[in-house]
Amino acid sequence: MNVAVLASGTGTNLQALLDRVHGRDGVEIVAVASDKPDAPALDRARRAGVATASFLAADYPRRPARDRAMADWLIGGGVELVVLAGYMQLLSAEFLERFPDRVINVHPALLPAFPGLRPVDDALAYGVKVFGVTVHFVDGGVDSGPVILQRAVELPDARDPASVLDRLHPIEHELLPEAVRLLARGAVSFDPANRRRVVIER
Ligand code: GAR
Repeated sequence: MNVAVLASGTGTNLQALLDRVHGRDGVEIVAVASDKPDAPALDRARRAGVATASFLAADYPRRPARDRAMADWLIGGGVELVVLAGYMQLLSAEFLERFPDRVINVHPALLPAFPGLRPVDDALAYGVKVFGVTVHFVDGGVDSGPVILQRAVELPDARDPASVLDRLHPIEHELLPEAVRLLARGAVSFDPANRRRVVIER
């Protein structure tokens, strides 16, 4: 399965995908795109010999036009699954229609709690004792698509976002490659009685 990764930042999740599934288990990472031309994620992709491209908001007056250009580039590269790994932009319907049920995201919270851009700060402000990671399908909403994998971690004394993220990152680096592996194996489906429920065949 040809996989593309979209990333806006450091790209540790991209690195986990490169290290743990790329070239194995039927998975090939063939493209990495970003909305930030200087994202360290792009350097990681180049070092791994993966094609890269940047699609900047400044170059496109409207987001659907940018997303259309990005989808064209990905489809031209034979991409079958799009993985958002710290991609901090919403994707328009025009993009999602090109990859039906083929866009997934990793989010550092136990959805549906704390969607959005500052999930760990929001969870700390709420005072939760259990944090976690969700890998989910992307739909037209904000972090609202069907859940593929989740894992929780109890941090009853957490105070500081950076130390929570330090605990969540290794979980992300396991769950995201695992989700990609499962999708490549065809082991992920929707319960026909309730398409919110993702069924994993282990
Ligand atoms: C990850 O923690 C990911 O869960 C988060 O951005 C970080 C990217 O880290 N994504 C979101 O918050 C999306 N709503 P990375 O660049 O080191 O992979």
